[in-house]
Amino acid sequence: MEQILTADGRAEALRQLPALLLPWYDTNKRDLPWRINTDPYRVWISEIMLQQTRVEAAKEHYIRFLRELPTAADLAACPEEKLLKLWEGLGYYSRARNLQRAAKIVAETGFPRTAAELKKLPGIGDYTAGAIASIAFGQPAPAVDGNVIRVLSRLLGDGRSPEMLKTAFAEELAPAYPAQRRGDFTQSLMELGATVCLPSSPLCLTCPLFALCKTKSDALPARKQKPERRREDKTLLLFRAGETVALCRRNDGVLKGMYGFFAVGASLSDAQIAAFLRGAGVQNFEIGEKRRHKHVFSHIEWTMLARVIELPDEKQLAAADETAGARAIGMPADTEISPFASLKYFTKAQIEADISLPSAFRWCMELL
Ligand code: ADE
Repeated sequence: MEQILTADGRAEALRQLPALLLPWYDTNKRDLPWRINTDPYRVWISEIMLQQTRVEAAKEHYIRFLRELPTAADLAACPEEKLLKLWEGLGYYSRARNLQRAAKIVAETGFPRTAAELKKLPGIGDYTAGAIASIAFGQPAPAVDGNVIRVLSRLLGDGRSPEMLKTAFAEELAPAYPAQRRGDFTQSLMELGATVCLPSSPLCLTCPLFALCKTKSDALPARKQKPERRREDKTLLLFRAGETVALCRRNDGVLKGMYGFFAVGASLSDAQIAAFLRGAGVQNFEIGEKRRHKHVFSHIEWTMLARVIELPDEKQLAAADETAGARAIGMPADTEISPFASLKYFTKAQIEADISLPSAFRWCMELL
């Protein structure tokens, strides 16, 4: 799309933002738990949580996380199980692991104060570095997320792709930063995007940028095409031995390192499940309840079938051989299959209290 403003016109429009947005922010900002102060640790945790999670969903997690781990040193020393439990429900667990890796560095050397230095920490990209540098350290460092791209693309009438806009705005916005209240300026842009300049049906008539805005509607930014998701079938075997249930750590794929149920990367019929288990050398089992469920990740979609498998005791699977089971039903050699040897038994109460079970598997608990 043709750009409506010249470079000078764009710079001039952006320079007007602080005077329009800061007074609006003062009266309209939401009362959010990460706005109590500008401690860099608190700002950092909030920005990481908010990357893939809505504000409402993040709030409670944030409060609990900060209560349990109030400083970078506490986070650095936190056992992994506890950390993942605190992260449960937020998804994208690599964010939590990166947080801890970065916390170990920060606990030793202190927080870097510039965006360039912050970006050297694990899990901190352009956006998060700008957010921490401006909110916690008062630097003129833009933080361009989806909200900010939306606000500025409409303001300037710029219909280029979001990827191009991100780079352009990061550069053009820096000179527009005010001398004071730089963190509030960053947050005022995010806040306008989150509460007024909404993705569809924006509240233009209440917008402090109405007079300046070239679009005054949801016609921009250009909509992204929906990503093609890879579809995967899974059969989950929920092995239950009386009061306990078997879980294993996943050793590959999107949820690598997380707990899950025994999984086969194919949709299996009852007869195939029975033949697989017999082929694996499992003598005594009963196939119980069944449920289907779909889980959508950003790039992958799992269609899952779960079957409860009742076992007389926990020893039943001790010598089971998944490769022999796979052979018995002619499964292709590269099909995902959990190793029986990696299974561990837990009570439901232990799972609730101590184990971080990803949302992709939580629905199975209702069958148990
Ligand atoms: N989204 C990302 N960062 C945010 C913040 N600091 N406040 C509100 N929404 C946000």
